[in-house]
Amino acid sequence: MHQFIEKESPSMNYRKFYAPIETELFEVEKLLREFLSCENPFIDRVVHHGFQLGGKRMRPALLLLFAKMTGDVLPQHRTLAAAIETIHTATLIHDDILDEATTRRHLPTVNVVWNNETSVLLGDFMVARAIRQVTELDCTEVSHLVAQTSCRLCEGEMRQVGFRGNFTLSEETYNSIIQDKTASLCECACLLGVFFNSTQQEWREGAITFGRHLGMAFQIADDLLDIRGEETQMGKSLGTDLAKQKLTLPMIRLLAVLEETPRQTLLSALQNESVEEVRPKIQTLLREHAIYESVCETAQKHILTAISSLEKFPKNPCRDALEALACYVLERKH
Ligand code: FPP
Ligand code: MG
Repeated sequence: MHQFIEKESPSMNYRKFYAPIETELFEVEKLLREFLSCENPFIDRVVHHGFQLGGKRMRPALLLLFAKMTGDVLPQHRTLAAAIETIHTATLIHDDILDEATTRRHLPTVNVVWNNETSVLLGDFMVARAIRQVTELDCTEVSHLVAQTSCRLCEGEMRQVGFRGNFTLSEETYNSIIQDKTASLCECACLLGVFFNSTQQEWREGAITFGRHLGMAFQIADDLLDIRGEETQMGKSLGTDLAKQKLTLPMIRLLAVLEETPRQTLLSALQNESVEEVRPKIQTLLREHAIYESVCETAQKHILTAISSLEKFPKNPCRDALEALACYVLERKH
Protein backbone atom coordinates (compact mmCIF):
# COMPACT_ATOMS: atom_id res chain seq x y z
CA MET A 1 0.00 0.00 0.00
CA HIS A 2 2.72 2.12 1.06
CA GLN A 3 4.29 3.54 -2.00
CA PHE A 4 0.99 5.08 -2.94
CA ILE A 5 0.82 7.19 0.19
CA GLU A 6 4.33 8.54 -0.36
CA LYS A 7 3.88 9.24 -4.03
CA GLU A 8 0.41 10.67 -4.17
CA SER A 9 -0.37 12.36 -0.92
CA PRO A 10 -0.91 14.96 0.31
CA SER A 11 -2.80 15.91 -2.78
CA MET A 12 -0.93 18.33 -4.98
CA ASN A 13 -3.28 21.32 -4.68
CA TYR A 14 -2.86 21.43 -0.96
CA ARG A 15 0.87 20.87 -0.96
CA LYS A 16 1.79 24.53 -1.22
CA PHE A 17 0.08 25.23 2.10
CA TYR A 18 2.01 22.44 3.73
CA ALA A 19 5.52 23.74 2.90
CA PRO A 20 6.41 24.74 6.51
CA ILE A 21 5.63 21.23 7.77
CA GLU A 22 6.66 19.14 4.77
CA THR A 23 9.21 17.04 6.66
CA GLU A 24 6.88 16.43 9.58
CA LEU A 25 4.02 15.48 7.28
CA PHE A 26 6.27 12.97 5.56
CA GLU A 27 6.97 11.40 8.93
CA VAL A 28 3.25 11.25 9.60
CA GLU A 29 2.83 9.33 6.34
CA LYS A 30 5.32 6.77 7.61
CA LEU A 31 3.44 6.51 10.90
CA LEU A 32 0.17 5.98 9.05
CA ARG A 33 1.73 2.97 7.35
CA GLU A 34 2.90 1.59 10.66
CA PHE A 35 -0.47 2.19 12.35
CA LEU A 36 -2.39 0.35 9.70
CA SER A 37 0.02 -2.36 8.67
CA CYS A 38 -1.39 -5.82 8.88
CA GLU A 39 0.09 -9.13 7.85
CA ASN A 40 -3.21 -10.47 6.63
CA PRO A 41 -3.18 -9.92 2.84
CA PHE A 42 -6.93 -9.29 2.60
CA ILE A 43 -6.88 -6.60 5.31
CA ASP A 44 -3.77 -5.07 3.76
CA ARG A 45 -5.50 -4.84 0.34
CA VAL A 46 -8.63 -3.29 1.78
CA VAL A 47 -6.65 -0.82 3.93
CA HIS A 48 -4.57 0.13 0.90
CA HIS A 49 -7.65 0.90 -1.12
CA GLY A 50 -9.37 2.69 1.77
CA PHE A 51 -6.41 4.96 2.23
CA GLN A 52 -6.42 6.08 -1.35
CA LEU A 53 -9.90 7.48 -0.69
CA GLY A 54 -8.69 9.94 1.97
CA GLY A 55 -5.78 11.99 0.86
CA LYS A 56 -5.78 15.77 1.29
CA ARG A 57 -4.18 15.36 4.71
CA MET A 58 -5.85 18.60 5.78
CA ARG A 59 -6.42 17.54 9.39
CA PRO A 60 -2.86 16.35 10.10
CA ALA A 61 -1.62 19.51 8.38
CA LEU A 62 -3.79 21.66 10.66
CA LEU A 63 -2.43 19.85 13.71
CA LEU A 64 1.20 20.19 12.62
CA LEU A 65 0.83 23.83 11.53
CA PHE A 66 -0.70 24.75 14.90
CA ALA A 67 2.06 22.84 16.66
CA LYS A 68 4.85 24.54 14.74
CA MET A 69 3.20 27.96 14.90
CA THR A 70 3.19 27.74 18.71
CA GLY A 71 6.41 25.80 19.40
CA ASP A 72 8.00 22.50 18.45
CA VAL A 73 6.53 19.55 16.62
CA LEU A 74 6.85 16.73 19.16
CA PRO A 75 6.54 12.96 18.63
CA GLN A 76 3.08 13.15 20.26
CA HIS A 77 1.97 15.58 17.55
CA ARG A 78 3.02 13.15 14.81
CA THR A 79 1.21 10.26 16.43
CA LEU A 80 -1.93 12.32 16.90
CA ALA A 81 -1.80 13.69 13.35
CA ALA A 82 -1.73 10.12 12.01
CA ALA A 83 -4.51 9.05 14.39
CA ILE A 84 -6.77 11.96 13.43
CA GLU A 85 -6.27 11.24 9.72
CA THR A 86 -7.06 7.58 10.34
CA ILE A 87 -10.31 8.47 12.11
CA HIS A 88 -11.19 10.90 9.32
CA THR A 89 -10.66 8.25 6.65
CA ALA A 90 -12.83 5.82 8.63
CA THR A 91 -15.67 8.36 8.70
CA LEU A 92 -15.52 8.77 4.92
CA ILE A 93 -15.58 5.01 4.38
CA HIS A 94 -18.65 4.75 6.61
CA ASP A 95 -20.21 7.85 5.02
CA ASP A 96 -19.91 6.28 1.57
CA ILE A 97 -22.08 3.39 2.74
CA LEU A 98 -24.74 5.80 4.05
CA ASP A 99 -24.67 7.83 0.84
CA GLU A 100 -24.43 4.71 -1.38
CA ALA A 101 -21.56 6.59 -3.01
CA THR A 102 -19.73 4.79 -5.78
CA THR A 103 -16.75 7.10 -6.31
CA ARG A 104 -14.32 9.00 -4.10
CA ARG A 105 -11.05 10.57 -5.17
CA HIS A 106 -11.67 9.27 -8.68
CA LEU A 107 -11.67 5.69 -7.41
CA PRO A 108 -14.46 3.22 -6.68
CA THR A 109 -15.46 3.29 -3.01
CA VAL A 110 -14.76 0.34 -0.69
CA ASN A 111 -18.47 -0.55 -0.73
CA VAL A 112 -18.28 -0.86 -4.51
CA VAL A 113 -15.00 -2.78 -4.76
CA TRP A 114 -16.02 -5.09 -1.93
CA ASN A 115 -19.31 -4.57 -0.08
CA ASN A 116 -20.92 -2.74 2.85
CA GLU A 117 -19.78 -5.36 5.36
CA THR A 118 -16.15 -4.82 4.38
CA SER A 119 -16.58 -1.03 4.56
CA VAL A 120 -18.12 -1.16 8.04
CA LEU A 121 -15.31 -3.37 9.28
CA LEU A 122 -12.57 -1.36 7.60
CA GLY A 123 -13.88 1.81 9.27
CA ASP A 124 -14.02 -0.03 12.60
CA PHE A 125 -10.51 -1.39 12.09
CA MET A 126 -9.16 2.09 11.42
CA VAL A 127 -10.87 3.64 14.44
CA ALA A 128 -9.63 0.79 16.66
CA ARG A 129 -6.04 1.21 15.45
CA ALA A 130 -6.24 4.98 15.92
CA ILE A 131 -7.54 4.60 19.49
CA ARG A 132 -4.73 2.16 20.26
CA GLN A 133 -2.14 4.70 19.16
CA VAL A 134 -3.74 7.58 21.04
CA THR A 135 -4.09 5.66 24.30
CA GLU A 136 -0.45 4.57 24.09
CA LEU A 137 0.46 8.24 24.60
CA ASP A 138 -0.85 7.74 28.12
CA CYS A 139 -2.40 11.17 28.36
CA THR A 140 -5.94 10.99 29.73
CA GLU A 141 -6.87 14.49 28.61
CA VAL A 142 -5.86 13.78 25.02
CA SER A 143 -7.55 10.36 24.97
CA HIS A 144 -10.70 11.98 26.29
CA LEU A 145 -10.59 14.74 23.68
CA VAL A 146 -10.21 12.27 20.80
CA ALA A 147 -12.95 10.03 22.21
CA GLN A 148 -15.27 12.98 22.74
CA THR A 149 -14.62 14.16 19.17
CA SER A 150 -15.39 10.68 17.81
CA CYS A 151 -18.69 10.78 19.73
CA ARG A 152 -19.48 14.14 18.14
CA LEU A 153 -18.71 12.80 14.64
CA CYS A 154 -21.10 9.92 15.17
CA GLU A 155 -23.80 12.07 16.79
CA GLY A 156 -23.63 14.64 13.99
CA GLU A 157 -23.97 11.98 11.33
CA MET A 158 -26.77 10.21 13.21
CA ARG A 159 -28.70 13.45 13.65
CA GLN A 160 -28.33 14.08 9.93
CA VAL A 161 -29.76 10.63 9.20
CA GLY A 162 -32.58 11.35 11.64
CA PHE A 163 -33.50 14.48 9.67
CA ARG A 164 -33.60 12.69 6.29
CA GLY A 165 -36.78 13.59 4.46
CA ASN A 166 -37.57 16.32 6.98
CA PHE A 167 -38.00 19.49 4.94
CA THR A 168 -38.45 21.72 7.97
CA LEU A 169 -34.82 21.45 9.09
CA SER A 170 -33.71 24.87 10.36
CA GLU A 171 -30.40 26.62 9.67
CA GLU A 172 -29.67 26.48 13.37
CA THR A 173 -29.98 22.69 13.45
CA TYR A 174 -28.01 22.33 10.20
CA ASN A 175 -25.22 24.43 11.74
CA SER A 176 -25.09 22.32 14.86
CA ILE A 177 -25.04 19.10 12.78
CA ILE A 178 -22.11 20.24 10.63
CA GLN A 179 -20.31 21.51 13.69
CA ASP A 180 -20.41 17.95 15.02
CA LYS A 181 -20.01 15.86 11.88
CA THR A 182 -17.24 17.92 10.27
CA ALA A 183 -15.96 20.86 12.31
CA SER A 184 -15.36 18.83 15.50
CA LEU A 185 -12.43 16.91 13.98
CA CYS A 186 -10.86 20.13 12.67
CA GLU A 187 -11.30 21.74 16.12
CA CYS A 188 -9.68 18.70 17.69
CA ALA A 189 -6.74 18.73 15.25
CA CYS A 190 -6.01 22.42 15.85
CA LEU A 191 -6.35 22.13 19.62
CA LEU A 192 -4.05 19.08 19.74
CA GLY A 193 -1.45 21.10 17.85
CA VAL A 194 -1.39 23.72 20.62
CA PHE A 195 -2.05 21.33 23.53
CA PHE A 196 1.51 20.14 24.25
CA ASN A 197 3.08 23.53 23.59
CA SER A 198 0.97 25.79 25.73
CA THR A 199 -1.57 25.84 28.52
CA GLN A 200 -2.55 29.40 27.56
CA GLN A 201 -6.32 29.46 27.43
CA GLU A 202 -6.28 32.19 24.78
CA TRP A 203 -4.27 30.02 22.38
CA ARG A 204 -6.35 26.93 23.04
CA GLU A 205 -9.57 28.82 22.42
CA GLY A 206 -8.09 30.43 19.29
CA ALA A 207 -7.21 26.98 17.92
CA ILE A 208 -10.73 25.68 18.57
CA THR A 209 -12.31 28.75 16.94
CA PHE A 210 -10.10 28.42 13.86
CA GLY A 211 -10.87 24.71 13.47
CA ARG A 212 -14.59 25.16 14.05
CA HIS A 213 -15.09 27.92 11.49
CA LEU A 214 -12.74 26.40 8.92
CA GLY A 215 -14.59 23.09 9.28
CA MET A 216 -17.99 24.72 8.92
CA ALA A 217 -16.91 26.67 5.83
CA PHE A 218 -15.45 23.46 4.41
CA GLN A 219 -18.73 21.58 4.88
CA ILE A 220 -20.85 24.44 3.52
CA ALA A 221 -18.63 24.59 0.41
CA ASP A 222 -18.89 20.80 0.15
CA ASP A 223 -22.68 20.93 0.39
CA LEU A 224 -22.82 23.54 -2.35
CA LEU A 225 -20.58 21.39 -4.54
CA ASP A 226 -22.87 18.41 -3.94
CA ILE A 227 -25.52 20.38 -5.84
CA ARG A 228 -23.54 22.40 -8.36
CA GLY A 229 -20.20 20.56 -8.73
CA GLU A 230 -19.00 18.32 -11.55
CA GLU A 231 -18.37 14.68 -10.68
CA THR A 232 -15.51 14.43 -13.16
CA GLN A 233 -13.75 17.37 -11.52
CA MET A 234 -14.59 16.47 -7.92
CA GLY A 235 -13.82 12.78 -8.40
CA LYS A 236 -16.62 11.72 -6.06
CA SER A 237 -20.31 10.86 -6.21
CA LEU A 238 -22.39 14.04 -6.10
CA GLY A 239 -26.07 14.73 -5.60
CA THR A 240 -26.09 12.24 -2.72
CA ASP A 241 -27.61 14.80 -0.30
CA LEU A 242 -30.52 15.23 -2.71
CA ALA A 243 -30.82 11.50 -3.34
CA LYS A 244 -30.93 10.81 0.39
CA GLN A 245 -33.17 13.82 1.06
CA LYS A 246 -30.62 15.40 3.40
CA LEU A 247 -31.29 19.13 3.56
CA THR A 248 -28.21 21.33 3.40
CA LEU A 249 -27.83 25.10 3.59
CA PRO A 250 -28.62 25.89 -0.09
CA MET A 251 -31.83 23.83 0.04
CA ILE A 252 -32.86 25.21 3.44
CA ARG A 253 -32.53 28.76 2.09
CA LEU A 254 -34.26 27.92 -1.18
CA LEU A 255 -37.25 26.35 0.57
CA ALA A 256 -37.45 29.43 2.81
CA VAL A 257 -37.73 31.91 -0.08
CA LEU A 258 -40.06 29.99 -2.41
CA GLU A 259 -43.78 30.82 -2.54
CA GLU A 260 -46.12 28.01 -1.48
CA THR A 261 -46.88 26.62 -4.97
CA PRO A 262 -43.30 26.39 -6.32
CA ARG A 263 -42.27 25.11 -2.89
CA GLN A 264 -44.75 22.24 -3.09
CA THR A 265 -43.66 21.52 -6.69
CA LEU A 266 -40.03 21.32 -5.57
CA LEU A 267 -40.84 19.07 -2.60
CA SER A 268 -42.79 16.75 -4.83
CA ALA A 269 -39.91 16.64 -7.35
CA LEU A 270 -37.45 15.89 -4.54
CA GLN A 271 -39.60 12.99 -3.37
CA ASN A 272 -40.58 11.54 -6.73
CA GLU A 273 -37.93 12.33 -9.33
CA SER A 274 -34.45 10.98 -9.84
CA VAL A 275 -31.44 13.10 -8.85
CA GLU A 276 -30.55 13.47 -12.54
CA GLU A 277 -33.93 15.09 -13.15
CA VAL A 278 -34.18 17.22 -10.04
CA ARG A 279 -30.58 18.48 -9.77
CA PRO A 280 -30.66 20.82 -12.82
CA LYS A 281 -34.03 22.23 -11.69
CA ILE A 282 -32.58 23.02 -8.28
CA GLN A 283 -29.49 24.58 -9.85
CA THR A 284 -31.75 26.96 -11.83
CA LEU A 285 -33.79 27.89 -8.76
CA LEU A 286 -30.66 28.49 -6.69
CA ARG A 287 -29.32 30.81 -9.40
CA GLU A 288 -32.63 32.66 -9.81
CA HIS A 289 -32.96 33.28 -6.09
CA ALA A 290 -29.30 34.25 -5.58
CA ILE A 291 -28.87 31.43 -3.07
CA TYR A 292 -25.40 30.55 -4.37
CA GLU A 293 -24.22 34.03 -3.43
CA SER A 294 -25.86 33.99 -0.02
CA VAL A 295 -24.42 30.56 0.86
CA CYS A 296 -20.93 31.56 -0.35
CA GLU A 297 -21.20 34.70 1.77
CA THR A 298 -21.95 32.59 4.85
CA ALA A 299 -18.95 30.35 4.14
CA GLN A 300 -16.80 33.47 3.69
CA LYS A 301 -17.93 34.81 7.07
CA HIS A 302 -16.79 31.57 8.71
CA ILE A 303 -13.42 31.91 7.00
CA LEU A 304 -13.06 35.51 8.17
CA THR A 305 -13.83 34.44 11.75
CA ALA A 306 -11.27 31.64 11.43
CA ILE A 307 -8.63 34.00 10.09
CA SER A 308 -9.23 36.63 12.78
CA SER A 309 -8.73 33.97 15.45
CA LEU A 310 -5.14 33.65 14.17
CA GLU A 311 -4.33 37.21 15.25
CA LYS A 312 -3.52 36.09 18.78
CA PHE A 313 -0.78 33.74 17.51
CA PRO A 314 2.80 34.64 16.58
CA LYS A 315 3.15 35.79 12.97
CA ASN A 316 5.29 33.19 11.22
CA PRO A 317 5.21 31.00 8.04
CA CYS A 318 2.87 28.48 9.73
CA ARG A 319 0.33 31.18 10.52
CA ASP A 320 0.55 32.44 6.92
CA ALA A 321 0.01 28.89 5.66
CA LEU A 322 -3.07 28.46 7.89
CA GLU A 323 -4.51 31.70 6.56
CA ALA A 324 -3.86 30.70 2.93
CA LEU A 325 -5.34 27.24 3.53
CA ALA A 326 -8.46 28.82 5.02
CA CYS A 327 -8.91 31.01 1.93
CA TYR A 328 -8.43 28.01 -0.37
CA VAL A 329 -11.31 26.13 1.29
CA LEU A 330 -13.70 28.50 -0.49
CA GLU A 331 -12.11 28.00 -3.90
CA ARG A 332 -11.62 24.27 -3.86
CA LYS A 333 -13.16 22.11 -6.52
CA HIS A 334 -12.34 18.76 -4.86
C1 FPP B 1 -18.90 13.44 5.01
O1 FPP B 1 -20.08 14.12 4.76
C2 FPP B 1 -19.00 12.78 6.36
C3 FPP B 1 -18.54 13.30 7.51
C4 FPP B 1 -17.85 14.59 7.57
C5 FPP B 1 -18.69 12.59 8.82
C6 FPP B 1 -19.12 11.16 8.72
C7 FPP B 1 -19.22 10.53 10.07
C8 FPP B 1 -19.65 9.28 10.26
C9 FPP B 1 -20.06 8.39 9.13
C10 FPP B 1 -19.71 8.74 11.63
C11 FPP B 1 -18.73 7.60 11.78
C12 FPP B 1 -17.75 7.95 12.80
C13 FPP B 1 -16.61 7.27 13.04
C14 FPP B 1 -15.76 7.68 14.19
C15 FPP B 1 -16.14 6.15 12.19
P1 FPP B 1 -20.60 14.40 3.29
O2 FPP B 1 -21.39 13.24 2.83
O3 FPP B 1 -21.28 15.71 3.33
O4 FPP B 1 -19.25 14.56 2.47
P2 FPP B 1 -18.81 13.86 1.12
O5 FPP B 1 -19.44 14.71 0.06
O6 FPP B 1 -17.30 13.95 1.07
O7 FPP B 1 -19.31 12.47 1.12
MG1 MG C 1 -21.01 11.66 1.61
